[in-house]
Amino acid sequence: MDEKPMIKIKNLVRHYKTGEVIVKALNGVSFDIKKGEFIAIIGPSGSGKTTLLRILGLIDKPTDGEYTINNLNVIDLPEEERTYYRLTQLGYVFQDYALINEMNAIENVYILSLMEGRSKKESIITAKQALEKVGLKDKSERVPNQLSGGEKQRVAIARAIAKKPKILFADEPCANLDTRTSKQVLDVLKTLNKKFGQTIVMVTHESWHLKYASRVIKLKDGLIISDKKLKKKPSRVLL
Ligand SMILES: Nc1ncnc2c1ncn2[C@@H]1O[C@H](COP(=O)(O)OP(=O)(O)OP(=O)(O)O)[C@@H](O)[C@H]1O
Ligand SMILES: [Mg+2]
Repeated sequence: MDEKPMIKIKNLVRHYKTGEVIVKALNGVSFDIKKGEFIAIIGPSGSGKTTLLRILGLIDKPTDGEYTINNLNVIDLPEEERTYYRLTQLGYVFQDYALINEMNAIENVYILSLMEGRSKKESIITAKQALEKVGLKDKSERVPNQLSGGEKQRVAIARAIAKKPKILFADEPCANLDTRTSKQVLDVLKTLNKKFGQTIVMVTHESWHLKYASRVIKLKDGLIISDKKLKKKPSRVLL
């Protein structure tokens, strides 16, 4: 593992203003993420997990604080550059899959690559590779409503990893799944992390998911209340 921190965040604050009310979602969060880590973010509902992930994924901006990736200040990038950086360097898996129902699995995966201006041929090749990684090579022609919840979530993961992101963010990727399908999705993430060295930051509510991570960060009231490295077990090939 590259021991140099890839991500550094310092005193991240995010306050939401709704009318007269200010919601203090993050109140000064600092930590580093090293390349190849698999971080689980846990904490009670409303503790700021999604808020933190959205900022890390460049979907939202903090009210205050610092955020660098490989020493690049990603907060102050001009909006277009931020969007381009997000699209090309980061992967984000949404809780509700966010797939396009009219498109089949492979089209859902390569759409982002087309949007980045790559050729259709190249986009299809990388999409096929990504679908293979998540074990869905044979279902690439199916539209979302012909896929199970776990399969849809794996298409969403394939879409996020097709562009080989530096970091993959996943917000409760198993929230709508039963235990068996959750395990399938977590096994995919674990394989990406172990076999391909993918850096992963995953929000979860379930304690049994934690064994997949190498480090667990716990939030409460917008603050980190614990940050623990987990003992490494020998890796296992899961796909
Ligand atoms: N757009 C918003 N406007 C106002 N308040 C918000 C907004 N988004 C989140 N919040 C508030 O910020 C706090 C943190 O929300 P966040 O979604 O980060 O929590 P969470 O830890 O992800 O919770 P959950 O486990 O329920 O998903 C909550 O009090 C929430 O109501
Ligand atoms: Mg949340």
